[in-house]
Amino acid sequence: MNQPLLIRGGRIIDPGSGLDKTRDLLIDEEGILRFIDMNSVIPESDYLIIDASGMIVCPGFIDLHCHLRQPGYEEKETIATGTRSAAKGGFTTVCCMPNTKPALDNPVIIKLVQDIALIESPVRVLPIASITKGRQGQELSDFKTLASLGVAGFSDDGSSVVDENLMRKALEECRELGLPLIEHCEVPELASDGVINQGRVAKKMGLKGIPSAAEEQMVARDIRLAGDTDGWVHIAHASTTRTVELLRWAKSEGIHVTAEVTPHHLTLTENEVVTRGTAAKVNPPLRTQADINALVEGLNDGTIDVIVTDHAPHTRVDKECDIAEAAFGISVFETTLASLMTLVHSNKITLNTLIDKLTRQPALLLGKRDGITGRLEDGKAADLVMIDPNREWVVDPEEFVSKGKNTPLSGVTLKGKVMATVSRGKLVFVDELLSVR
Ligand code: DOR
Repeated sequence: MNQPLLIRGGRIIDPGSGLDKTRDLLIDEEGILRFIDMNSVIPESDYLIIDASGMIVCPGFIDLHCHLRQPGYEEKETIATGTRSAAKGGFTTVCCMPNTKPALDNPVIIKLVQDIALIESPVRVLPIASITKGRQGQELSDFKTLASLGVAGFSDDGSSVVDENLMRKALEECRELGLPLIEHCEVPELASDGVINQGRVAKKMGLKGIPSAAEEQMVARDIRLAGDTDGWVHIAHASTTRTVELLRWAKSEGIHVTAEVTPHHLTLTENEVVTRGTAAKVNPPLRTQADINALVEGLNDGTIDVIVTDHAPHTRVDKECDIAEAAFGISVFETTLASLMTLVHSNKITLNTLIDKLTRQPALLLGKRDGITGRLEDGKAADLVMIDPNREWVVDPEEFVSKGKNTPLSGVTLKGKVMATVSRGKLVFVDELLSVR
């Protein structure tokens, strides 16, 4: 039994049902959401009352791409710390990548993650299994068995499946299961031991660059294979103009391809590396303003389906070293909403698009499994987030719940904050400044 909640006066935005209206909400002791008439007389003493005036209330965010690091890299993150960080960022469902140790390539490890999550996670966790055993790119995982355990898809994230025949076979097998192959697109020979985007900054800093072509060539191959096989490829962390163009073409041809983009690829350029160093080292690398413009356009016209975090926590040791040696990745859960709000405040995307790409669209890609609809539905378990769109705050990684303090946004003032998160009807995060009585 939960403490029943009464959320008063919030602006409810739910792209899935086309709702944008100020309304009151109840969440009962069973965690079930009810819309009620504004200012209805109800026995307030029975409820925890949240004043949501001036705030947005929307469905809980769904992240199709994050790294929780357990098992094997618990010094970077655990399922407990990563999912509490997710809750603080407004997420109520997260899909975790299989580049753990051992990799999520067999039923025992998948069940382990699911069991730990059941006990330790305030939000839903859906594991993503690896495409190949051990992520070694040699032999396919047992897709059927893994699918029967409820994995969200398959990915060798961190690397591509380089063997074209293997990828073709994987697409054919997954077609029958209705699950995506989530491809990290990178031709290893082209990316080589590149550190940051190949371009002006890499040249100036004397660093080896990762060319856009390393991504685009693999995107093109995967689109071709998806077309040939009728399989479903989902392009992870799109980062270049040409990737967007390829995706747009593929969709116009009716090829089953979907795509995601991260908050950092939508908001930060390669210039960050000059001032932020290893904190801005991520794979794919931060690119250029022209790439950002193309990604934003792709998001707005539906070429890019969803926004994901690619939350990739690392230890200080992994990051406080020479940039050529440092790990790729950014800790993202707790800054996602605020950094995306910069796009809303500057009229690059609408609030509705932002929420849609974090709620309804990812739910559609998950096939609405486990009742995850990315919507606010009367009579259903409540997954929701409360946002103050105008609250300014300074990013301090020491305040992150995540073990990963690796962010290029340290010290940056952002406008927009997650104030509370309700997952399966339970209040799992409350900001200290939220009025709750
Ligand atoms: O920057 C990245 N970090 N990109 C990836 O593809 C993997 C991730 C990680 O696991 O740290």
